[in-house]
Amino acid sequence: MIVDIPVPVFRIGSIIVIFVQLTVSYTMSSESYNYTEERNKILQEERMKFIGNDLILTDNEMKANEIILKVKKTELNEGYDNESTFLASQHFFKAKNKIERSEMFNIIKKIPKGGSLHTHYLSGVSADFIINNITHRKNIYGCDLNGVFKLRFLEDATNDTTCNWKKLEDYRKENSNFDDWLRKQLILDVENPYEEYPTADSVWAKFKKIFSTQYDMVCYKPVFEIFIYQLLNELYSDNVIYTELRGTFMPLYELNGKIYNSKEFMKIFINTVERFKKNFPDFVGVRYIHSIYRGLTIENLTLQLDELTKLKKLFPNFVAGFDLIGREEEGHCLFEIHQLLSKYSENLKFYFHAGETNWFGHTDLNIIDAVLLNSSRIGHGFGLNKHPVVTRLAKDKNICVELCPISNQVLMLISDPRNHPMIGLMAEGFPVVICNDDPSAWGTIGLSYDWYVAFMAMTSENDGIRVLKQFALNSILYSAMEDEEKEAAVRIWEKSWQEFIDYIILHHK
Ligand SMILES: *[C@@H]1O[C@H](CO)[C@@H](O)[C@H](O)[C@H]1NC(C)=O
Ligand SMILES: *[C@@H]1O[C@H](CO)[C@@H](O)[C@H](O)[C@H]1NC(C)=O
Ligand SMILES: *[C@@H]1O[C@H](CO)[C@@H](O)[C@H](O)[C@H]1NC(C)=O
Ligand SMILES: *[C@@H]1O[C@H](CO)[C@@H](O)[C@H](O)[C@H]1NC(C)=O
Ligand SMILES: *[C@@H]1O[C@H](CO)[C@@H](O)[C@H](O)[C@H]1NC(C)=O
Ligand SMILES: *[C@@H]1O[C@H](CO)[C@@H](O)[C@H](O)[C@H]1NC(C)=O
Ligand SMILES: [Zn+2]
Repeated sequence: MIVDIPVPVFRIGSIIVIFVQLTVSYTMSSESYNYTEERNKILQEERMKFIGNDLILTDNEMKANEIILKVKKTELNEGYDNESTFLASQHFFKAKNKIERSEMFNIIKKIPKGGSLHTHYLSGVSADFIINNITHRKNIYGCDLNGVFKLRFLEDATNDTTCNWKKLEDYRKENSNFDDWLRKQLILDVENPYEEYPTADSVWAKFKKIFSTQYDMVCYKPVFEIFIYQLLNELYSDNVIYTELRGTFMPLYELNGKIYNSKEFMKIFINTVERFKKNFPDFVGVRYIHSIYRGLTIENLTLQLDELTKLKKLFPNFVAGFDLIGREEEGHCLFEIHQLLSKYSENLKFYFHAGETNWFGHTDLNIIDAVLLNSSRIGHGFGLNKHPVVTRLAKDKNICVELCPISNQVLMLISDPRNHPMIGLMAEGFPVVICNDDPSAWGTIGLSYDWYVAFMAMTSENDGIRVLKQFALNSILYSAMEDEEKEAAVRIWEKSWQEFIDYIILHHK
């Protein structure tokens, strides 16, 4: 038994001396003391604190749980015997192909995962589709601009002097491996990540180039529509029924030079979503989280927020709010601009990236501001565990963390996800949603890869279906949807969940 002992405090001058008695008193002599039982009590208490473990299961869910735990433990046991077989702790780029053959991964793929709440749409479509479909369309050109390969649609390149454009057709004629080369411009995935990207700076440099390569190409209006549709398709094919997409107003263009304004952009975006929903009626919907580069001037930031406020009034069910993006070490910290941001809190919700850093007492302080500004969720919150007071405040305000384990590893905040700082907070019941951040950059589709890493590397060997169910439920409960929409989404999700449970019981004996 652990006894609470009042801590004596003595004041000597201005120095406060606190005697902490780390006394744990056991009822040593009596027969009622049973070491194993005390130990089990601790384990049980910890188990109940971990997110999801207080969920009550149906009989069928219990059966499915046993199956899932068996599969999980088989994979873990192989890892305990020989650590180099354990996939979720390795660099994702090295483990990806093997993960795809893992039984646990293939179960996770089948799970109805609810929503994907942290996806940047410019990196939301697989490189395969971009290469095989989009870059094989007519009128696409490429050119090297200061070391970045740019893609763009043009009616006639002769009049565009911004770059020395050449048709992709011609690149392909000259080099039969052009598509392989192009693929490398679109993803971070490499065979030797630690050699190619020795530092976070080097991986971020490549990461930014990817966005730059695609941007103009995706701004071509007919491609934008195909792109967003495909993005939803890829999520849906991974059993995701809802998403909140981060991005910016893109100046969509036509070949004849027409450019659409931000209001038209929103309409085109919404129409594409509606078209998808019509074809897939159990897809619940999309919300837009406007993402502003944190390096903008205050003037430009203000302009964008004013515009967004107007667009929120026009499209209240589509625009959720906004975020500031870009590496947190660059540009404004939230504290610098908290007064400005507060002015917009009446109309717009905040979804700040905060604490996506390894520093302490520096960029991680964005988390304090994100919580004080009532951010609806926190993107990454990687440094949150260094701030117990903020953690408590965030929990009181029911703010959840968007946990992106693969992103955190690839962008070099951590090498082994078993050491992820969010584990300790999940162990105390802090709510998280599992997110993919920039799936195309990691060469993934959907949420299953991040779910796999989170489940295998960041939960205990005894945590099974309850945690998985909680991940899915959180992605609806912590979404930007209104309460009635959440209820409707949970009902749709529950139906697929039952089917999933039945499937597991039937197919994994
Ligand atoms: C202590 O508790 C464990 C688990 O309940 C039980 O198996 C064991 O027999 C107990 N030991 C004694 C000495 O009572
Ligand atoms: C451990 O697993 C790795 C990877 O599968 C394998 O190459 C190695 O031979 C194994 N080591 C032992 C001692 O079995
Ligand atoms: C690209 O995808 C769209 C939408 O799925 C499809 O209609 C079109 O035929 C595809 N084009 C190519 C070249 O594959
Ligand atoms: C390109 O410029 C020439 C000369 O100014 C003009 O005649 C032609 O129409 C332009 N082509 C396009 C596609 O804008
Ligand atoms: C601010 O916006 C203006 C006008 O759109 C643009 O020319 C300028 O480059 C922007 N500055 C920054 C730092 O974003
Ligand atoms: C955050 O919420 C608190 C408590 O509801 C409120 O007093 C405060 O004004 C809010 N801050 C902002 C920036 O909205
Ligand atoms: Zn992000």
